[in-house]
Amino acid sequence: MKILPKVSRFLHGGDYSPEQWPSKQWREDIDKMEQAGVNALTLGVFAWSALEPEEGVYTMDWLGEVMDLLAARGHHAILATPSAAQPAWMSKAYPQVLRSPIGGQRNRHGMRVNFCVSYPYYRQKVAAMNTELARRFGKHPALVAWHISNEFFDPCYCSNCEEAFRQWLRARYGSLDQLNHSWNTAFWSHTFTDWSQIEAPGGTGENSCEALWVNWKRFSSGQYASFIRNEVIPIRKHSPGIPVTTNLMGTHEPLDYWRLAAELDFVSMDAYPFYDCRPEMLDHGIEHSFVFDLMRSFKRGNPWALMECTPSSANWMPFMKLKRPQIHRLGSMQAVAHGSDSVMYFQWRQGMGGREKFHGAVLDHTGSTQTRVFKEIAEVGEWLQKMTPVLGLRTKADVALLYDWENRWAIEAACGPTKDYKQYVPTCVAHYKGFWSQGISVDVIQSTEDFGSYKLLVVPMLYMLRPGVAERMEAFVRDGGTLVATYWTGLVDEDDRLFDTSFPGPLAPMLGIENEETDILYPDEHAGVEALPGNSLGLEGGWKATTFCALIESKGAEVLARYTSEFYAGSPAVTRNLYGKGTAYYIGFRAGHDFHAAFYGKLATQLGLQRALEAPLPEGVTVQVREDGESRFLFLMNFSGVEAVVELGSVNATELVSGQANVKQVYLEPYGVEILRVH
Ligand code: GAL
Repeated sequence: MKILPKVSRFLHGGDYSPEQWPSKQWREDIDKMEQAGVNALTLGVFAWSALEPEEGVYTMDWLGEVMDLLAARGHHAILATPSAAQPAWMSKAYPQVLRSPIGGQRNRHGMRVNFCVSYPYYRQKVAAMNTELARRFGKHPALVAWHISNEFFDPCYCSNCEEAFRQWLRARYGSLDQLNHSWNTAFWSHTFTDWSQIEAPGGTGENSCEALWVNWKRFSSGQYASFIRNEVIPIRKHSPGIPVTTNLMGTHEPLDYWRLAAELDFVSMDAYPFYDCRPEMLDHGIEHSFVFDLMRSFKRGNPWALMECTPSSANWMPFMKLKRPQIHRLGSMQAVAHGSDSVMYFQWRQGMGGREKFHGAVLDHTGSTQTRVFKEIAEVGEWLQKMTPVLGLRTKADVALLYDWENRWAIEAACGPTKDYKQYVPTCVAHYKGFWSQGISVDVIQSTEDFGSYKLLVVPMLYMLRPGVAERMEAFVRDGGTLVATYWTGLVDEDDRLFDTSFPGPLAPMLGIENEETDILYPDEHAGVEALPGNSLGLEGGWKATTFCALIESKGAEVLARYTSEFYAGSPAVTRNLYGKGTAYYIGFRAGHDFHAAFYGKLATQLGLQRALEAPLPEGVTVQVREDGESRFLFLMNFSGVEAVVELGSVNATELVSGQANVKQVYLEPYGVEILRVH
């Protein structure tokens, strides 16, 4: 499904700030777009003071002129609402508009995303601004999408937000007795006797009540969702049929992006990976594949948009290392491989002053079209043009991997079982790598999504089981699904209260085990694990367990592998339990890629999971698929610094960009990428 009804090509372009340039420059800058194979600009992201220089005085002609220039050349505009940076006059006149970071003391004016998400006046002003913009430009021929604000960031901790939080808690818990019980506030005399005693967590305030933290983040995510809703209402009214999005930042911890995504027509994301051609780049590549699959999963497999990446370097990075030749092409194609229908940049034209004057741009401060960067962008533009048949295609995944924000907050808020080595997100990515390296597509979903369409559900460290999740997992397995859970799963309920049964709580019967204790090893230690001879998965060999070693007892599950060291040598480390028509596995220890590759390799074969290609892939290479019932495209990407050859076996394919037919084997240069059309 296409995300932009008015567009039938890949969006290629970037943020442009005409308000930073004299008007005579606009035509010149827009005239250069075609040479770069660029067809879209995002306008107005931080333009409030240019759009409303004093309260109630709207000055939008300049924006109209730029949009007309784009339309005249057949280019597209993504129009941003300017709420990410309120003007100085507003902060002065209405100081409550300013954000309060953790600790609750209001910021002074400046920076960006420096507003209070709950303040009614700001919501009204944003709605009024969006009404003006949508009335004026909502049906403009250049307009293809609305870009709400920019990179929603962090909760605001001001007194307005605190009061809204209390109201939210009243509605959620009904009574203080219920809240006190759910949060176990008898601990350290934290019992609340009046709603007004509840404050935002953090700073010099409450830091020892995990349920408060988790609920504060739930509440704050909801505030941002309703902030977006408030922005979108006038747009939908005056600009019907033009989809809305906002730019997300991957797995950004403070906000539950599922809540934000639900308000949007399509999801978009800003990606700034460290693609520096060092060995670690492989891991950054896998992390980004994971995050891109999360973007695709927000809208159940529909395409999303890469809204920003840098054409060369990013000035906020500790080192502004330039992207080596062709690295940008690999990063761009990677986003498309995982479902993006665009490659957009920050920024089209470098500004002459301010904090981002050294940030990479397609046009540098001189506006030259002869730079290395400009030429590489133009080449990506050519590729995207040839890739038009990929537009709107989806990815079918047999596997879902759970990455759950609420669970993450709860894990991070908990005191124990290790301070710095909980590593929830890296653990999810480590399991994901087991599939990435085999060319098996994965959806990345939260625990409340539907599991029904998957063959395999991977559940790393699902410490918190939200209501109904255990029951739905059980039903999934009973009906024939396969589930893999790991250590540190099934410990607490949605209020961070321990389950009153053995771990993994309500999942224990399905997994056929009980987890009595978990040993946490120091970073320089490991325990041994070995496969049991003749185990039903065919696992062979031995591995290292780091940090987490769950001590488990089988309650009917088959033991596939056991520990070989520590006082728990001989006890189960990996188990398999037949349950209903399905199977539930438990991995008791933190494993490395050698184990994940072996384990998920065996499982993929046993379950017949669809691989992009049958032959094993060289190290550092992945293959991702976009398809519909008729067309199938393979994206072969090499994230290693050595060349690689990929055998296609019986696949009959044509190289999409070069047009070469009957390809049997693909040579990938270091960091190379090829796209194949499969017949
Ligand atoms: C993004 C932001 C852009 C720009 C860019 C620089 O996070 O949305 O406005 O600041 O970073 O890398």
